[in-house]
Amino acid sequence: MSMIEKVKNKARSDIKKIVLPEGDERRTVEAASILKREGLAEPILIGAPEDIKKVASELATDISGIEIVDPANSQKSSAYASALYEIRKNKGVSEDDAKKLVADPMYFGIMMVKCGDADGLVSGAVHTTGDMLRPALQIIKTKPEMKIVSSSFLMDCPNKDLGEDGLLVYADCVVMPNPTAEELAYIAIATADTAKRLCGFEEPRVAMLSFSTKGSAKHELVSKVQEAVEIAHKLAPDLLLDGEMQYDAALVPEVGASKAPGSPVAGRANILVFPDLQAGNIGYKITQRIGGAECFAVLQGLNMPCNDLSRGCSVEDIVNTVAMTAVQAQE
Ligand code: ACO
Repeated sequence: MSMIEKVKNKARSDIKKIVLPEGDERRTVEAASILKREGLAEPILIGAPEDIKKVASELATDISGIEIVDPANSQKSSAYASALYEIRKNKGVSEDDAKKLVADPMYFGIMMVKCGDADGLVSGAVHTTGDMLRPALQIIKTKPEMKIVSSSFLMDCPNKDLGEDGLLVYADCVVMPNPTAEELAYIAIATADTAKRLCGFEEPRVAMLSFSTKGSAKHELVSKVQEAVEIAHKLAPDLLLDGEMQYDAALVPEVGASKAPGSPVAGRANILVFPDLQAGNIGYKITQRIGGAECFAVLQGLNMPCNDLSRGCSVEDIVNTVAMTAVQAQE
């Protein structure tokens, strides 16, 4: 069974309420109908009911039984505005600003999650990554034990010899443009946690990637990764993590054995932590486009699960992302 099928089965076992702020967007309406029908989540669509119903009727999609919430007419709007004001007043947000912000479906949806009226949120079919992330970072914030929010990409590769039966987890490919060594260490730990909880990895093996393996090159960029390895070992002494190492040393047993002999990770890594966002974002796209991997993205480190979509997403991508969000919410 594929990773995403396992995730869907888990989502069905304890159904969660997932809010979709882009409620009148066509792919989102169709995805909500599938989610409800397949029992993967209890979707909540945000938007004007007449607009959402019009889209559903154009698509001949059944949205009966799906909750629709309209920020313009919701009795919760004023409570959400007060809560938002309390959270953001020390950042210069006035009561008036807070009222205006909750009229925005994105902020309204985030406040639903924050106030416990939904278990998670998925957005990004229309909004950019930054527009989706900013309210989540400002309001939901990071888990107490995590310093930063980052992302994991679950790469389901055709070559089943790689990682766990072809599944590799990449990080960070979405959030942190240029992490410090400490932030890189936190990304590694969060990714191992995601791999365990969402993908069922029994033994996360983390390779901290660079253009150097074990000191083969000397450069400040390499030193940053070496420092991240040291910090990660202190923060999570039981985690199998090693580096710095090159991509091939992380994945190919013979290269790992020759370049990093004795490493508990080299040649058999199932988690690959890239040194910055340029490398991570480019790396996942190469694996997807040239390597033929299917990819699934989640955010990690947020206090409550909120996930981003690509604006080019398909209905299936939305369904899959909601299922992953629901599983994150089960924890
Ligand atoms: N973890 C936790 N909190 C964070 C993080 C983080 N990684 N980044 C920012 N914050 C917090 C800040 O501390 C701040 O909190 P505060 O307002 O309470 O003080 C708040 O979030 C907003 O921070 P800003 O610095 O004002 O926000 P910024 O404009 O830098 O935006 C963002 C943050 C959106 C994450 C930015 O770093 C970004 O744009 N990242 C890249 C996103 C992207 O384009 N990814 C690639 C495309 S996605 C794809 O290809 C799949």
